[in-house]
Amino acid sequence: MNVLVVGGGGREHAIAWKLAQSPKVNKIYCAPGNGGTAEFARNVPISVNDFAALAQFVKDEGIDLTIVGPEDPLFGGIVEFFEQRSLPIFGPTSEAAKIEGSKSFAKKLMTKYGIPTARYESFLDYQSALAYVREQGAPIVVKADGLAAGKGVVVAHTLAEAEEALFQIMQEGAFGQAGSRVVIEEFMSGEELTLLSFVDGETVKPMITSQDHKQVFDGDKGPNTGGMGTYAPVPQVSPELVESIVETIVKPMAKGMVQEGIPFKGVLYTGLMLTAEGPKVVEFNARFGDPETQVILPLLETDLLEIILATINGELSAIDVTWKTGSAVCVVMAAPGYPGDYPKGALIEGLDQTQQNRVVFHAGTKRTEAGIVTNGGRVLGVTGLGRTLTEARDAAYEGVAAIRFEGAHYRTDIAGKALQRK
Ligand code: AMP
Ligand code: GLY
Repeated sequence: MNVLVVGGGGREHAIAWKLAQSPKVNKIYCAPGNGGTAEFARNVPISVNDFAALAQFVKDEGIDLTIVGPEDPLFGGIVEFFEQRSLPIFGPTSEAAKIEGSKSFAKKLMTKYGIPTARYESFLDYQSALAYVREQGAPIVVKADGLAAGKGVVVAHTLAEAEEALFQIMQEGAFGQAGSRVVIEEFMSGEELTLLSFVDGETVKPMITSQDHKQVFDGDKGPNTGGMGTYAPVPQVSPELVESIVETIVKPMAKGMVQEGIPFKGVLYTGLMLTAEGPKVVEFNARFGDPETQVILPLLETDLLEIILATINGELSAIDVTWKTGSAVCVVMAAPGYPGDYPKGALIEGLDQTQQNRVVFHAGTKRTEAGIVTNGGRVLGVTGLGRTLTEARDAAYEGVAAIRFEGAHYRTDIAGKALQRK
């Protein structure tokens, strides 16, 4: 089969890398791809939001399957666009992707189907939002309703911070249209957990657990990012707890969406907070996580292509999704300034770090005549593999130590929460 992966980040490199291991996959194309995918796939300079050009390319090249990485094209309706043209594609429709695209929509569904999540109110009007925040007090969480690349959330520890966030989002338009509506949530404390699941409507096949590190600095300090590193599986989460999350959260959500007439087909990302009252949903996303995918797919034993085809065909219940033993740790190397503004075009040296216990996934990179250069905020996801989490972490950081580009920064405590407990 010839496959097109839509997207150009670390997640898409990991998806393409995993597909390349399938005996059933012939050619891999990436649109637009990055410096890493250029090594083994054909990068095509088509924007992820140019559905007509993507569909035309798929027809011209005889591509059998398209897999969508990022949320933007899903939200924009790429799946319907392809399905209307009988082109097989993996991902949810725009209606189903609204569980990520609109936080208030997701919250309404969770309330309707009894799925545990933080108490909330949503507002279109600044004065009412302000009054509510003042009445509730801090700590409190202020979220732009729409897509904001993981950055539209402010966890306010003081009332002043909450008021400033509201002002920025609703009055200054810090996130544009995404912030015309805000969701204000009860603050939840606890450890965070990501559980990705393959979902073909009602059938749910959970993947292994992972944990992201959203803040930019060690010790969970500084502003939120798209994710600075991950590890999998999460040892402090028992199989019984995972089972209960699947039964009380993921399956009811999938079933609820079928009942709503918007069945979810693709990868359902459940972001959870393990609170003293039990696991509660922080957010649902409509796609693979980034950088969760970079630690999950290296541990997947089953052929990814088979799972994806079964999901598209509604035959997921017939597939046994199995995992390798061992652990994986991904450390993101970011450009100076990220998650704020950052320069591009710095030469990356020492990239030849891939070996049996390590894969260097590219995110914001580009191949040029001078070599591979930086081309985004999150530049690389260096993934270490090992029999234990400690081995995996060491393998990742050995790789990081050997890679250089100007102003590179990364967290030094990825997987720390799990390792401290030992
Ligand atoms: P989201 O984009 O909704 O996943 O939020 C980004 C991050 O903000 C989450 O990963 C959490 O670390 C934090 N966060 C979101 N909602 C809450 C909440 N209700 N209580 C505490 N932290 C939260
Ligand atoms: N790593 C967070 C996300 O993919 O949304």
